[in-house]
Amino acid sequence: MTEIVISEKEKEGETPFSPPFLATIKERYRLNLSGSDKETFHIVLDLQGSNIKYNVGDCLGIYPQNDPHSVSKLLILLGASGEEHIQDRKGDTYSLFEFLTFKASLLRIPEEKNDLQTFCSLLSPLLPRYYSIASAMDFVGHEAHLTVGLTKNSNETISPFGTCSHYLCYRAPVGEPKIAIFHKPSTQFYLPEEAMRAPIIMIGPGTGIAPFRGFMQQRMMQTGSSKSWLFFGERRGDTDFYYKDFWEHLVTQDQLRLTCAFSRSGSEKIYVQHKMREEGRELWEWIQKGAYVFVCGSIDMGKEVELTLQQLAEIHGMLSSSDSKIFIRNLRKSKKYLRDVY
Ligand SMILES: Cc1cc2nc3c(=O)[nH]c(=O)nc-3n(C[C@H](O)[C@H](O)[C@H](O)COP(=O)(O)OP(=O)(O)OC[C@H]3O[C@@H](n4cnc5c(N)ncnc54)[C@H](O)[C@@H]3O)c2cc1C
Ligand SMILES: NC(=O)c1ccc[n+]([C@@H]2O[C@H](COP(=O)([O-])OP(=O)(O)OC[C@H]3O[C@@H](n4cnc5c(N)ncnc54)[C@H](OP(=O)(O)O)[C@@H]3O)[C@@H](O)[C@H]2O)c1
Repeated sequence: MTEIVISEKEKEGETPFSPPFLATIKERYRLNLSGSDKETFHIVLDLQGSNIKYNVGDCLGIYPQNDPHSVSKLLILLGASGEEHIQDRKGDTYSLFEFLTFKASLLRIPEEKNDLQTFCSLLSPLLPRYYSIASAMDFVGHEAHLTVGLTKNSNETISPFGTCSHYLCYRAPVGEPKIAIFHKPSTQFYLPEEAMRAPIIMIGPGTGIAPFRGFMQQRMMQTGSSKSWLFFGERRGDTDFYYKDFWEHLVTQDQLRLTCAFSRSGSEKIYVQHKMREEGRELWEWIQKGAYVFVCGSIDMGKEVELTLQQLAEIHGMLSSSDSKIFIRNLRKSKKYLRDVY
């Protein structure tokens, strides 16, 4: 599971580090090329004027706003104008429109729509979402880069898209200081000082690639960095190869070994864990020589990658099944195996 800890106050919708900084989106573009069925965006936030000093591996918290179209749909359902007065849990007063836009999650709408105040009290607070920072401050200066995948809503809700990903990818204005953000330092997923001179193995399919762009930018700024190996996976190599030029440049400079698993480019599903097995002998050698292993991306992928690491310990390290589990546990305890899965 992810190492991000959400406090009770945050669950109630309180700003964890208040007030949030209002950042400007300097640049935003889609990373998938035309023909892709995914929508993943690169977003550059200007941090000038903030006190934010992040390390690679850290996250930004973003306060989303609900889509005005969804809010309007709900107002029609409620038979309300939006100008009605509503109190939040702290007793502060908002117009209904403001409350539904900034304060309430619209993912689950109560069936009962008695009086407006009761209805609003039944809505969950609109919480910030976390995004891995995809840059290194030493490399980009007062900017934070994000890699944001547009979430599509699985079940019938008031909006077809995820609240924050849709806000960041489409609705948040570019060039205006309006994005409410805060810095969430990571205590569990980071590039340790010792790892700067050690080999690193990074496993990051999909948006899990984000922190590793930061890791490699950091390593580029450092002399004497050891070797690095990235396992990236997405649907198709021709349309979904995020930051392809950056990785390929590093490969030509001999600063990176790159292994890709494109799940929908061929007739069979190929995932990062399949490629890890194919490269198992060498991967095991790297780990034996002290490589740090970092995994970022979906929870399911994280589980399968961990099983694969155990299998590599059994096949190439000749360990029994129980010893391979102990090996992975010790790797984790010694902070040589760090994960950020969500
Ligand atoms: C530490 C951390 C780092 C993260 N880094 C990134 C990143 O770099 N890039 C990125 O794109 N995202 C990242 N995420 C995920 C991100 O925080 C949001 O969860 C994601 O963008 C969806 O939020 P949303 O508001 O768009 O969707 P919501 O409005 O929260 O949800 C929309 C729909 O998707 C479903 N849903 C939401 N989240 C998940 C999930 N994780 N798995 C399955 N179904 C889900 C909901 O049930 C709902 O139906 C990270 C999460 C964490 C905890
Ligand atoms: N609920 C949502 O709609 C939603 C949307 C965005 C993000 N998220 C969350 O964020 C995570 C990252 O999403 P993302 O869009 O960046 O990438 P992703 O869904 O993790 O997909 C990236 C690559 O990983 C593959 N993959 C799927 N299951 C895998 C597994 N068990 N093991 C290894 N590889 C696997 C995908 O293949 P295939 O697609 O071909 O199977 C694809 O090639 C999600 O997994 C989810 O937790 C959820």
